[in-house]
Amino acid sequence: MCGIVGYIGKNQNIRVGIEALRRLEYRGYDSAGVAWYNPEKREIFCLKKAGRIDNLEKAILESNLDLNGNPFILHTRWATHGGVTDENAHPHWDCKKNIFLVHNGIIENYKKLKDGLIKEGHKFSSETDTEVLCHLIEKHFQGNLEEAVIKALREVRGTYSIIVIAKEDPGKIVSVRLSSPLLLGVNQKEVFVSSDPSAVITHTRQIINLDDNEIVVLKPDNFHILKEKPSIQIDWTPEEAQKGGYSHFMLKEIMEEPETIENAIRGRLLPEEGNVKLGGLISIEDKLREIKKINLVACGTASFAARVGEYMLEEYAGIPTEFDVGSEIRYRKPVIDKDIAAIFISQSGETADTLAALREMKEKGILTLGITNVIGSTQTRETDAGVYTRSGPEIAVASTKAFIGQLVTLAMLTVFLGRQRDMSLVTGKRIVSELSKLPELAKKILKSAPEIQKLAEKYKDYKNLYYIGRKYNYPIAREGAHKIKEVAYIHAEGLRAGELKHCELALIDEKFPTIALCPSDSVYEKMISNIQQIKARNGLVIAIATEGNEEIKKNADDVIYIPKTLEMLTPILSVIPLHLFAYYTAVALGKDIDKPKNLAKSVTVE
Ligand code: F6R
Repeated sequence: MCGIVGYIGKNQNIRVGIEALRRLEYRGYDSAGVAWYNPEKREIFCLKKAGRIDNLEKAILESNLDLNGNPFILHTRWATHGGVTDENAHPHWDCKKNIFLVHNGIIENYKKLKDGLIKEGHKFSSETDTEVLCHLIEKHFQGNLEEAVIKALREVRGTYSIIVIAKEDPGKIVSVRLSSPLLLGVNQKEVFVSSDPSAVITHTRQIINLDDNEIVVLKPDNFHILKEKPSIQIDWTPEEAQKGGYSHFMLKEIMEEPETIENAIRGRLLPEEGNVKLGGLISIEDKLREIKKINLVACGTASFAARVGEYMLEEYAGIPTEFDVGSEIRYRKPVIDKDIAAIFISQSGETADTLAALREMKEKGILTLGITNVIGSTQTRETDAGVYTRSGPEIAVASTKAFIGQLVTLAMLTVFLGRQRDMSLVTGKRIVSELSKLPELAKKILKSAPEIQKLAEKYKDYKNLYYIGRKYNYPIAREGAHKIKEVAYIHAEGLRAGELKHCELALIDEKFPTIALCPSDSVYEKMISNIQQIKARNGLVIAIATEGNEEIKKNADDVIYIPKTLEMLTPILSVIPLHLFAYYTAVALGKDIDKPKNLAKSVTVE
């Protein structure tokens, strides 16, 4: 979720690295840093700053350091461990300021490693998981950097791509990846290593993608991978490269939904205990055991996640739960008892209405929690405790993968609070086990993107759409309608299917399609009745149904299948085709998808 770059070659000025880093700023933009070996002083110099790359540029301009040197490594950060501070920015270093390193990924066992290293006398200067890598490499360093890296990584669990340099083994870069992207960009006079092609594309189109556990040693005039690999020619423009080859950030982010689930659950599931471990809640565990009611607060897409959470928390944690949007709850004088917890859900952590409601609740002296994506945002600073969704930077205005991260986090929170109360071990185990299967199931849904694109083309010219669902999938109907309005500008309404007969059926005819969320769950039969009411009035129906359900074809004009999972987790899967449908409809209509008119990514006004 961060961007990393390393350079070794004929160019002796770190500016070439800064330019490359700028093209990675879309991957993370809360801090940036650079370290370079200066042959004259035989030192590694390092500058790093919280904030945008401009802050780093300013620090470079103001410093008296000699900017000449080679190799150099750079990083742009999207915080996952530790707040947004200069100290937590990369590169990080060891006790002797010999090893300097940048990292993209998460070190899962960093706590244990850090405790051990501290006992051995290592001194840490940041709160990050990354810094343990520097000290581990230091521990194994005996003059050869690649040997020390190989030994250190044997002790590490997690995902990483790292780029390392050492003062005492100069003239080389060592780099390695595990489940996190890393590639080389090569030409006659230099070698780049980066998490992303966009960093190197203005210098070379010759790219070598590294595989897991491949160690690469880069020297000024050659590089050596432990295994020979052919290079490939890429023909992306720098702009396309930032989107990883996808035509829009929205599509890239939808395609990242399986990875978002993986990131949200990584290191948090306890399958044997039928429970989850949420680090951000440890300090208030006892208080959470006492709460008698939950108030969920959010806006926009996050509000639909909150509505799903309402169903989850009542059914499985047994806690009375109430939801309201930020812009309403603060004016409606809700009855608030002291034993309530208020949970605020936000991708950005900066939404004005959600923050205003948070401040109201704090004034009333109740416990406040945040479910947030952006580390260090106002919401994370002002809540008593919270859980990060770890969805990574979301660039498209329309929120997609962050919504999935919110749903997964709410499911884990439900297990945590449920297990503090009456949820049985068997139920806890079942939910945890199904959560762990979701990334693969989500990948399967994404494979049907071409069929969903065809459907989007078929339905793109209808002026109105209903999305209907019941229980867990009612909020998903809302999210489906929200998304298509936002990016394709088609009028749509997300409805409780049971309410149709009280009003909305009046509008149904052959020009009014409905998307019906009808997975095989406890309300399936009821959904079929609602679909039949629509068909009886000549309405068109696209059904989102569970794989293997052939009967649905008799009731619907078109069907999109999703795999089977627990009822409470179906929203995490059923929303994926709706995100794709909204996206492809907007493509078919030629809309400005990543920046819809009249909307902003972070709504910081009331
Ligand atoms: C929808 C969308 C908005 C946001 C809303 C809340 O796709 O992006 O509706 O969901 O503005 O934003 P956060 O989650 O940042 O509080």
